[in-house]
Amino acid sequence: MATPIYLDNAATSFPKAVGVSDAVKHCLDAVAANIGRGSYQSCTDAGLTVLSVRERLAKSFGCTDLRRVIFTGGMTAALNMAIGGYVCEGDTVLLSSMEHNAVLRPLIAHGCTLLRIPSDDDGTMRLDRLAIDDWRAIRLCVCTHASNVSGTIQPIEALSDLCRAGGVPLVLDAAQTAGHLAIDMERLHLAALCLPAHKGLLGPQGLGMLLLSDAFSEALRPTVFGGTGSQSHSESMPRYLPDRFEAGTLNLPGIYGLSAALDRFDPATFRAHERKLIRRFSEGVSSIGHIRVLGPKDPAARVGVFAIDFLRRDNASVSDALERDYGILTRCGLHCAPEAHKTLHSFPQGAVRFSFSPATTEREIDAAVEAIRALA
Ligand code: ALA
Repeated sequence: MATPIYLDNAATSFPKAVGVSDAVKHCLDAVAANIGRGSYQSCTDAGLTVLSVRERLAKSFGCTDLRRVIFTGGMTAALNMAIGGYVCEGDTVLLSSMEHNAVLRPLIAHGCTLLRIPSDDDGTMRLDRLAIDDWRAIRLCVCTHASNVSGTIQPIEALSDLCRAGGVPLVLDAAQTAGHLAIDMERLHLAALCLPAHKGLLGPQGLGMLLLSDAFSEALRPTVFGGTGSQSHSESMPRYLPDRFEAGTLNLPGIYGLSAALDRFDPATFRAHERKLIRRFSEGVSSIGHIRVLGPKDPAARVGVFAIDFLRRDNASVSDALERDYGILTRCGLHCAPEAHKTLHSFPQGAVRFSFSPATTEREIDAAVEAIRALA
């Protein structure tokens, strides 16, 4: 069979940016260092590389101090740190009705009361329907920038204005937008921005970033404790950043890979390409019967993530047939976001998800549309 058509970029992008695998290999083969530990040359050189990646991330995402760029073991770890280091049992937390389990499960595990922002049927939050008498009763707001199920982009600027007026810190989950959309945490007045290296940034898996505002970094408690290579005499985590939130050995090969990925960082070009693919896919599937395309109709209101509910078929069997008969790789089920599926009225049956990357071609979109037509 021909090369598979990979349309599961919302799970992880593939292929990675040119240079990523070489950079990971270079680190594993040639960089003898665990940064912040040894003081030999290779260690300080590697430390400078890591510093430069922090600096580029800070510049790319509007974080005003590179020390507030924290490397984590992934996006879920970043969200857990932002949530678990701030909330206490019984706190009320505001969130969209489209959150991933990476947000819901930590909030529930910490005993928070969840206050969901109402949504339209396409998953767009309706801030005009939000009735909050006393914003002082809300401890934190956590929101996804775009849904990993339907691609719905949320009106984050408007949410940010409300949170700012109410004095509530806003944590943004940019799992599906980093690399796709321009994000400036200073302009959005974010308390924290959580990013994965391995999706739209086209870097390796197992690496995430937590970018913090000055005020939030002061208020946040560490949730992971251990060696930092600094203040080793002390029984407590250092006060200063990034050490306070970076216990243990960093994923150095991942950071080298991300460094290569950032050489290609260009959300404006990615978004322009993605918009073309979204329009082509939307138009292609619009004439197909017996399916329901979840999410907004307006291509500008979504990223390149589409979930389709096949009304006459079992969605998992469609996903299997897509691979077996057409070589098209998708993700079916609930996408770790049952709340989003409830909001989109696709619970419990789930949907088949098609998600794009900068490497996705118009021919691949056309092949997917024809396969959907045949299987519907
Ligand atoms: N959260 C990722 C997805 O949506 C893994 O598939």
